[in-house]
Amino acid sequence: MQKGLFITATDTGVGKTVISGAIAAALKRRGINVGVVKPVASGGRVNTSGQPVSEDATFLMAAAGMAEERRQEVNPVCLAAALTPAVAAAECGMTIDVTKLITACRAMLNQSELTVVEGVGGMAAPVWKDYLVADMMLELKLPVILVVKPNLGTINHTVLAAEYARQRSIPLAGIIVNCWDEAAATVLERSNLAYIKLLTGLPVLGKFPSLAGIPAGQASMVALGQAAEQHLAIDHIIGMMKGEDCPCFRQS
Ligand SMILES: Nc1ncnc2c1ncn2[C@@H]1O[C@H](COP(=O)(O)OP(=O)(O)OP(=O)(O)O)[C@@H](O)[C@H]1O
Ligand SMILES: [Mg+2]
Repeated sequence: MQKGLFITATDTGVGKTVISGAIAAALKRRGINVGVVKPVASGGRVNTSGQPVSEDATFLMAAAGMAEERRQEVNPVCLAAALTPAVAAAECGMTIDVTKLITACRAMLNQSELTVVEGVGGMAAPVWKDYLVADMMLELKLPVILVVKPNLGTINHTVLAAEYARQRSIPLAGIIVNCWDEAAATVLERSNLAYIKLLTGLPVLGKFPSLAGIPAGQASMVALGQAAEQHLAIDHIIGMMKGEDCPCFRQS
């Protein structure tokens, strides 16, 4: 059985990469052979050979302790334009073969004990034409974690995302609140959290803090894994990835 999870968020820039990396680093720290995939990335940094390189993939590979040679397996499609993949590809005359993305995810899932797949944008982001990230989730049949912000507006974004997932029969396994500051949290953040729990009925699998300077160096990945152990329900997440205690597709 393919074991893993798919990380999405209410929007771009909410923290999918940081949370995916934190979970991967925690699993690695526990001695688990962890795989990471960013099947499609846009906004890649163009290297000296003129090739776009995904910084998300760089971060995930560092978190999982993977060598640069595995970049193609981790990130088979990287586009330069900082646009939704369907448009970024069209802008440079490319087509996106979604089968290639699914195949890359399955290959990583097959060769790893547990795999973390990072989506792109949110669930309704177009990957190619009318094929959305949600369609990728449905094909991969992995449990999904939704990363959300703690600040103003998050109740609306989170409830809309959870409702969309319900409509598309994507059972979300839980929510992670990113950039949570326990000491500074006011009635705003605390009531947001309470409303998110109440209105979605989903478990909150962690409140992850803002960490100073998250570079992709190995040393900081150890700290990232430690932070994940401290602030995320890693045992529960592992169980979920293995298909235990999770109302996910794989049991249907
Ligand atoms: N917990 C955190 N502590 C410190 N910085 C963070 C944290 N979470 C996110 N960031 C920073 O916020 C920015 C956006 O985070 P991230 O890249 O993880 O978002 P994303 O959802 O993966 O974005 P994209 O849609 O581009 O893939 C990054 O610069 C990242 O380093
Ligand atoms: Mg990212």
